[in-house]
Amino acid sequence: MIQAINIKKIYKIEKVNIAALNGISLEIEEEEFVSITGPSGSGKSTLMHIIGCLDRPTSGRLLLDHGEMGKLKDNALAEIRNKKIGFVFQQFNLLSRSTSLRNVELPLIYAGVDRRERAERARIALERVEMAHRLYHRPNELSGGERQRIAIARALVTNPSLILADEPTGNLDSKTGEGILGLFQKLHQEGHTLIVVTHEKYVSAYAQRIIHLKDGLIEQDERRNTT
Ligand SMILES: Nc1ncnc2c1ncn2[C@@H]1O[C@H](COP(=O)(O)OP(=O)(O)O)[C@@H](O)[C@H]1O
Ligand SMILES: [Mg+2]
Repeated sequence: MIQAINIKKIYKIEKVNIAALNGISLEIEEEEFVSITGPSGSGKSTLMHIIGCLDRPTSGRLLLDHGEMGKLKDNALAEIRNKKIGFVFQQFNLLSRSTSLRNVELPLIYAGVDRRERAERARIALERVEMAHRLYHRPNELSGGERQRIAIARALVTNPSLILADEPTGNLDSKTGEGILGLFQKLHQEGHTLIVVTHEKYVSAYAQRIIHLKDGLIEQDERRNTT
């Protein structure tokens, strides 16, 4: 499903080059649950942004479902993001003045789904994350864990094959974080491909495969048996 071939990313700031990724090659199959770990600054978020087509590599190739992403214009990439990929962020990135239902409907608005179907699908997504009782709450009326569940419902509502999460438990206490991970585990069992970026050990314990980054390179790619 995902093929990265010798991906490099160099940021240029005031004529200084910062090498964030130094040649990453990997393959991720459909229905894998992968965790990307490594110390702060090792390139985890940069890699996630490139895999998610939120950013482009400086060099190297990214293929999603055998399609060459480097050949696509920005609007075509945006369409792939909307159709195939759901994103979950540490800061939740919810619209603060909108209800849960409205926040979850948003990707469907971009996708051009009509009002009635939108509301129906948003409701179903909120049920899947056990938030059906908070449809009309706004983010500041919800706990951190609840906000992240809303954000996960928003990621799910387009029924993407791939879900990417960048430090999804970073703003949560460990007990709440475990609840969110349990939810990811359920989504994995339901057939979603998951990539969770984290620097926390307990988080990667849920994954079947752990990719360790160091200085913009893969230091270790470890497959485990989870029960
Ligand atoms: N937009 C950017 N501009 C310049 N440098 C960046 C940018 N984003 C990340 N970096 C640098 O690239 C390196 C990798 O960053 P990042 O991918 O965010 O690491 P991680 O998520 O593992 O903490 C860091 O040295 C960081 O300072
Ligand atoms: Mg990061």
